[in-house]
Amino acid sequence: SANSMWGGRFAAGPDAIMEAINASIGYDQRLAPQDIAGSRAHAAMLAATGIITDNDADAIREGLLTVLSEIETGSFPFSTALEDIHMNVEARLKELIGEPAGRLHTARSRNDQVAVDFRLWVRDQCDQADEALAALQKALLGQAEAGADWVMPGFTHLQTAQPVTWGHHMMAYVEMFARDRSRFADARARMNTSPLGAAALAGTTFPIDRAMTAEALGFDRPMANSLDAVADRDFALEFLASASICAMHLSRLAEELVIWSSAQFRFVKMSDKWSTGSSIMPQKRNPDAAELIRAKIGRIFGANVALMTVMKGLPLTYSKDMQEDKEQTFDAADNLMLAVAAMSGMVADMTANKDNLKTAAASGFSTATDLADWLVRELGLPFREAHHVTGALVALAEDKGCDLPDLTLEDMQAEHAGIRADVFDVLGVDNSVASRTSFGGTAPDQVRAQIAHWAKLLDL
Ligand code: ARG
Repeated sequence: SANSMWGGRFAAGPDAIMEAINASIGYDQRLAPQDIAGSRAHAAMLAATGIITDNDADAIREGLLTVLSEIETGSFPFSTALEDIHMNVEARLKELIGEPAGRLHTARSRNDQVAVDFRLWVRDQCDQADEALAALQKALLGQAEAGADWVMPGFTHLQTAQPVTWGHHMMAYVEMFARDRSRFADARARMNTSPLGAAALAGTTFPIDRAMTAEALGFDRPMANSLDAVADRDFALEFLASASICAMHLSRLAEELVIWSSAQFRFVKMSDKWSTGSSIMPQKRNPDAAELIRAKIGRIFGANVALMTVMKGLPLTYSKDMQEDKEQTFDAADNLMLAVAAMSGMVADMTANKDNLKTAAASGFSTATDLADWLVRELGLPFREAHHVTGALVALAEDKGCDLPDLTLEDMQAEHAGIRADVFDVLGVDNSVASRTSFGGTAPDQVRAQIAHWAKLLDL
């Protein structure tokens, strides 16, 4: 039979496969709360502007509340034949309240309806991401406070570079997640304008009040161009781009946790709650959660690429291609929230091994730069020459199978006669980190200043 929403000019109903490719109700039903909020705002505005009667608006409002509670309690009869959430809700409303239901769609189209629903949903995800990332920052801050002056190797190329502190390393991620939060906040601010009232694409002949519906739904203002309002999916793309960058940061931390919890590093021990065993190798404590977080970037960035590709080259205004915006975005958002929550739990519950960190920091000639700096500062050598002398001493230590602090003063003086015994002060890792007092540097005092700054911002 022909469709009840547009059956006027149709003699036959759709092919079963047509129905299957066309339907989005399987996933867009999660937009029900937003759809009903949008419809309530629209109906109230239609009554306020005299386009429908107050009686009809009241009936619509009551009916929509019933629909919402049916959806919440799981008794709502979703139908694939009704294609999407918008038509499912409207058809049920008609069953519940009869004729007034047919007036709700005055001065509206599914094009502005879906644009407003999806925008409200993505806006809410920006808020949830912000909250989840703040919790992750708090977990990192807790680690940083515990080990503000614990020395560990800092790496470049995953080769020992210079000693740093555990607190400094944790605070680096606090900064990254702060930028992620501000990206979500920026995206939220930019998306917070209302497409409702654009109708199909050109606006409407009815005397609607778009500012009223915008305000009712918490938007800053109505979107200025009706064509843009129904054609725009930038808001979802900005969310996905922000989510991709955030997932990239998560993957870097996850990778470090995988490496650090290995038997070769033993920098951290994951708690039992965040580890898995092996069915054959009894000694195993696998960092599965970290590995899965590391992998989540795949589907999240995939969603970003997928929606960019869907939107690329689409002529204005709405095309059904745009129905493919939601599943990807839902999946990316769900997995981002899961990854951030898992990371927060893992970080909060893990234990850094202070002794292993320090032993590792003191190997690999990590204080070679301190030695070169000493030669510059104390003996007035040009840095390039100091670098050369230090390189020769590293080679000597390597030959002898020891580290720089284990060389004798005579060994040192053979490379440069002016070297004095107080050079050994700068070869210890604690002195090395303590001396990097430049702003943002790894000296414990600087790290504690970073921690204090963030503790205040995070209300701790
Ligand atoms: N389910 C559709 C979507 O998600 C709603 C908009 C349909 N509009 C239309 N003109 N067919 O995009």
